[in-house]
Amino acid sequence: MSDTAKKRIEELTERINRHDYEYHVLDNPTISDIEYDRLVQELVELERKYPEHAREDSPTRRIGGEVLEGFAKIEHTVPMLSLANAFDADELRAFDQRLKKLADDFSYVVEPKIDGLAASLLYEEGEFVRAATRGNGTVGEDVTHNVRTIKSVPLKLREPVTIEVRGEIFMPKAAFLSLNETRKRQDKELFKNPRNAAAGSIRQLDSRIAAQRSLDMFVYGLAERDEEAQIPQSEVLKRLQELGFKVNDRIMRARDIDEAIRLCEKFESLRTDLPYDIDGVVVKVDERPLYKTIGYTAKSPRWAIAYKFQAEETMTRIENIRLQVGRTGQVTPVAHLAPVEIAGSTVARATLHNEEYIKGKDIRIGDFVTIRKAGDIIPEVVAVIEEKRSGDEVRFRMQSTCPECATPLQKSDTEAETFCPNPECPSKRVQGFIHFASRDAMDIEGLGVRIIEHFHNEGFIRSIPDIYRLHRHKEELVGLARFGKKSVEKLLANIEASKERSLEKLLFGLGIRHVGKKTAESLAKRFPSIEQLRGADYDDILAVTDVGEKIAASIKAYFEDENNLKMLEELGSLGVNMHHKDDSGTGGHLEGLTFVLTGSLSAMSRQEAQKRIKARGGDVTSSVSKNTDYVCVGENPGSKLEKARSLGVTIIDEKRLLDLLGDTEE
Ligand code: IVH
Repeated sequence: MSDTAKKRIEELTERINRHDYEYHVLDNPTISDIEYDRLVQELVELERKYPEHAREDSPTRRIGGEVLEGFAKIEHTVPMLSLANAFDADELRAFDQRLKKLADDFSYVVEPKIDGLAASLLYEEGEFVRAATRGNGTVGEDVTHNVRTIKSVPLKLREPVTIEVRGEIFMPKAAFLSLNETRKRQDKELFKNPRNAAAGSIRQLDSRIAAQRSLDMFVYGLAERDEEAQIPQSEVLKRLQELGFKVNDRIMRARDIDEAIRLCEKFESLRTDLPYDIDGVVVKVDERPLYKTIGYTAKSPRWAIAYKFQAEETMTRIENIRLQVGRTGQVTPVAHLAPVEIAGSTVARATLHNEEYIKGKDIRIGDFVTIRKAGDIIPEVVAVIEEKRSGDEVRFRMQSTCPECATPLQKSDTEAETFCPNPECPSKRVQGFIHFASRDAMDIEGLGVRIIEHFHNEGFIRSIPDIYRLHRHKEELVGLARFGKKSVEKLLANIEASKERSLEKLLFGLGIRHVGKKTAESLAKRFPSIEQLRGADYDDILAVTDVGEKIAASIKAYFEDENNLKMLEELGSLGVNMHHKDDSGTGGHLEGLTFVLTGSLSAMSRQEAQKRIKARGGDVTSSVSKNTDYVCVGENPGSKLEKARSLGVTIIDEKRLLDLLGDTEE
């Protein structure tokens, strides 16, 4: 019986996989939905009875069910780079000219630039093994459990090859619209655009969610070192298609740049008719063997460029103009618009920069205007449609006092900008907290704009150090609207973890005027602690790369302010790292080792253990994968122990962990 079952399981697996391929990749189904469902049902039942015969590539594995506690990190074998942009035909011609100096005899491949998120998929001997997001380009997140649910991603290739492929995961426009409709009915927050919806789905720990989201994926290339590149890109695409991947069928070859430009323009006019969002066109040199000689800039290949479409424009009405006070006190007039859809999201605000800008364009309250998303991100007003004026429009007059704290406003030296000089201005402070917690600064996940405003209004965050005292109000926070115990605990854990951020992130997060991300990095390299930067004199600071007089003066002024010094002292005593960590590889004796902790430990908390491992250069992740070196098991371990066993990862107890840590105290 078991033998016949095994055979039938095999047969069904192959049949359903073929139907999935026909439906999701070829867009050409050959059976009815009812017949298909019947096959799946039969397979599910057989696999339940004979789990030992269920195959790795079984379509039932796409249903989802695996729930992770966190994402494991995956280091990319070949970095995932980004692309340089071209905004018009001239910039494409300039790209071609640059290439002609580096190589002769080449042609192009022109591919739609799918607006989703990049992923890298590894197959070993034809079997799908794992998928990672782009992350920071060097290290991404393991999202295998979710990518497995994407029906157009083959679980088994047509040939038993070991190969890593790259592509874009996206949500088709129709799926996005129907998802949002459902969410609206359920009173859930809507996704801004298909890209956010796709990214939000892939970043779920519970794979059942991704399984329901109708995600799709186009594969567009290989993760291969240039030395190994033998066949042209157009051949790679053909080969990927033969192996069973979904490759975009609108990709074209172009003999020269003029032909490539024509294709770019064609894509631009086709854009709205496509069933998925594209935000441009990628023009790549077809001859991959030339990639090595053509080379790279720091961030992107020289052999490809992204032609970005003209920003979409649309018309709306300015209902009001209000002042917004930023982190530095700069006061910006903002147009409040009648909400409109533009480039996939709803826009209700547009920056008007300053008073001069409003006067220059003669923008009035009540005006109809065209707006556009600059670089498709920040909306701005392009022009007033004067024909539509009724005469009831009202000219904007700059207030003379701060809308938040009523302090008289001041003009900058150039008179173009207006500032609120009050250091206690609540709006400035809140913006400062938002900046501090933001991704490029202390990167406190979950502490976003709304939560910060809420906590500020409730009196929990009045200063930056208050963020690190939030845990003292845990019970009260749990009581706040929309906030469960679990989410408070998660937020507090994220806050705690942020204490270990690097010195440059802290320096950037402090919001010292004119100190951007780059400058913060240079400062942290030159002055390995906050203390040393504070003690540095003007000339020492000025000698740092990218630091000019304005920045040096601003830094000096920052450290001369008593309030700032007091705040830094508080942050230090709350345990926030204030030292530069050298990441050149001498991080400690656990460097390069990855640990997973499960169950409760007796000599220390898991958090404490994590801190000690990290202090010795090791890494702690929350889920077990092949890349885990040790799983440390305490009392009442969870499913991670089983996972470790099944993957053959070394399992250690607490005593062994203490040995590994060594007895040297931090
Ligand atoms: S090639 C070395 N081809 O655009 C860069 N990228 O800035 C290799 N994208 O996040 C990328 N469609 O995910 C390439 N046909 C296509 C693409 C594409 C979308 C995305 C990619 C990346 C971004 C590049």
